[in-house]
Amino acid sequence: MILITGGAGFIGGNFVHHWFERAAANGLQAEPVVVFDKLTYAGNPATIARYLQSGQATLVQADIADREAVRTALATHLPRLIVHFAAESHVDRSIHGPGEFIHTNMVGTFSLLEEARAYWGALEGDAKAAFRFLHVSTDEVYGSLADTDPAFSETTPYAPNSPYSASKAGSDHLVRAYHHTYGFPTLTTNCSNNYGPYHFPEKLIPLMILNALDGKPLPVYGDGLNIRDWLFVRDHCEAICQVLDKGRCGETYNVGGINEIKNIDVVTTICRKLDALRPRADGTKYESLITYVADRPGHDRRYAIDPTKIQREIGWQPAETFESGIDKTVRWYLENTEWIDTVRSGAYREWIAKNYSGRQG
Ligand code: NAD
Ligand code: DAU
Repeated sequence: MILITGGAGFIGGNFVHHWFERAAANGLQAEPVVVFDKLTYAGNPATIARYLQSGQATLVQADIADREAVRTALATHLPRLIVHFAAESHVDRSIHGPGEFIHTNMVGTFSLLEEARAYWGALEGDAKAAFRFLHVSTDEVYGSLADTDPAFSETTPYAPNSPYSASKAGSDHLVRAYHHTYGFPTLTTNCSNNYGPYHFPEKLIPLMILNALDGKPLPVYGDGLNIRDWLFVRDHCEAICQVLDKGRCGETYNVGGINEIKNIDVVTTICRKLDALRPRADGTKYESLITYVADRPGHDRRYAIDPTKIQREIGWQPAETFESGIDKTVRWYLENTEWIDTVRSGAYREWIAKNYSGRQG
């Protein structure tokens, strides 16, 4: 049994799929999974419905900051390890309302660490030696790069710029301290921008795909020249599996695919892909929907990950290029309208109105 926090979200949900598919591909039966998830607006049981229905996954709906709920889940399910994805994850939301980010990312991670440390402390022998707490973090903790700066490595000083990245940096420091002070067996991964199936359409790539299909404006912040380092989500999931298998306790591993792309180029790539797969009825190109809007406050200019350590020590390599990954992603959104309908509720529309009204340039 393994316990996954945030397993009904984008990356956590993909991780559940990957966990079972990876074992099956190797002719093995995967250990069952307990998903511990508050089911915020970003959590969607439909993402992992297949495994909930088959009984391979069990959902515990609770807040990681609720220590009693965490304690009960650990005592009931006796996990071999914990993978901690649960977080408030959207930078724009952290600008509008940072409180939830402090609650979940910092207080929640602290609560989880305290309960997990007590649980681990009571384990014995092989179970204690094998236990791991893998903390899933982000490259945003390192701040913003200028065009000619070298990519982020594990020794780059932390310089978070948004309430989101500051709260993730705080959680990273707690995880580090729990290893250093208590010998708690932690692993931390700091990954670049993920994309792929089941991505909530508040983030750049799914938002652009769905707005384009609806004939709505494609809102590009600022000059569109900010750079992100894109990684297909299943490559991130495989990196986590390999770090769980081979990572050294107390270490951090940067994960990225060496895919630095300007936002405007991401958007035009999506437009051209849709022109080929789903041409517009009136014959116009999707690119005609691109609209430059007011910039994100404090917008980080460039992120880039140096993945040398995980490649050298663990042997991980991404399987997808941006071209192959974006093709799979656009096709997935064209084919999975049912899942899309489950996430575009009233609350979603309220967020879109809040974030984009008043931005039009
Ligand atoms: P997401 O927003 O899609 O999912 C977050 C999940 O956590 C949801 O299922 C939500 O219900 C759950 N959750 C939120 N608050 C909770 C709480 N208090 N208690 C229990 N569950 C709670 O996020 P994501 O994009 O899948 O990101 C997962 C993790 O990976 C986060 O820690 C994020 O910082 C990190 N990360 C994300 C990216 C990216 O590009 N998306 C890149 C690097 C790292
Ligand atoms: O780098 C890893 C991080 O990537 C993760 O830690 C975060 O959880 C994840 O949300 C993501 O953060 P970003 O802020 O980079 O992702 P987002 O999809 O929100 O934005 C990507 C870029 O696109 C960014 O430069 C802002 C820009 N953007 C975004 C939106 C939503 C636009 O131009 N228009 C938009 O409407």
